Amino acid sequence: MNANKALWEKGDFTRIAESMRASGEALVDDLGITEGQRILDLGCGDGTTAVPAARRGAEVLGVDIARNLVAAGNARAEREGLANVRFQEGDASDLSELGDDSFDAVLSMFGAMFAPRPFDVAKEMIRTTRPGGTVVMGNWIPNDPTLVAQILRISSAYSPPPPEGFVSPMTWGVEENVIERFEGAGVSADRIAFERSTYRFEHPGTPSSFLDVFRRYYGPTMNAFEAAEADGRADALHGELEALFGEQNESSSPDTTSIAATYLRVSVAVP
Ligand SMILES: C[S@@+](CC[C@H](N)C(=O)[O-])C[C@H]1O[C@@H](n2cnc3c(N)ncnc32)[C@H](O)[C@@H]1O
Repeated sequence: MNANKALWEKGDFTRIAESMRASGEALVDDLGITEGQRILDLGCGDGTTAVPAARRGAEVLGVDIARNLVAAGNARAEREGLANVRFQEGDASDLSELGDDSFDAVLSMFGAMFAPRPFDVAKEMIRTTRPGGTVVMGNWIPNDPTLVAQILRISSAYSPPPPEGFVSPMTWGVEENVIERFEGAGVSADRIAFERSTYRFEHPGTPSSFLDVFRRYYGPTMNAFEAAEADGRADALHGELEALFGEQNESSSPDTTSIAATYLRVSVAVP
């Protein structure tokens, strides 16, 4: 049993991704993705980044560990009549089915950070990008006060300790770790740039109903609630998260939710 795969197949991340579409579009515009570029989107989910990249004419491959999300991505591509994007199952720590130097850019927004063996992830991203190409990662930042880092922090306090040897995904949000991992893949630190950027979650209901979406469909939150229920602490977990979602909401209407979350954007100029 692959626990990493099971975690993401457990829920239905498409339900969260629906709230991230505008930020996915804005990212693709910001990166200047253009017609004919060969793009790999790692940990692509149902294509928050991959689909808008394909709409701009790039040749896009989405790779994700979760079978249900791969199917959802291919269904979106078909619905939109996009023949230049396809989704397939794969693990960001082992992309042996993909050749060296295959892509102009390898992107991973909050995806590859969840894969095991981060040094292998860095190596695979560099190996599959052509010399002169770019790797871009979006990684949540440990101890950041905004939404996702706080959901993961609160949830971990209600979850059993991770197995021995487990490397927290949040370590990808620390610049020193990122540098060490890409140096291990043969890239010098001066080729790695960092910036703090924002994704916005937009949900057409109250913050409380948005929390409900996480509770029902987001694997890490589902697991935290299962553990909390077993300990009789589910109400406490719900209370902490409800306060968080309410405090973070910036919508001018109490009936809708708009929450910004800060992430570390990593850009690597591949030698
Ligand atoms: C937070 S979601 C982000 C999805 C998408 N990038 C987006 O912005 O909507 C994390 C994604 O990473 C995928 N993932 C987790 N571990 C992975 C791995 N080892 N290899 C590939 N994908 C992985 C999950 O299945 C999930 O789709």
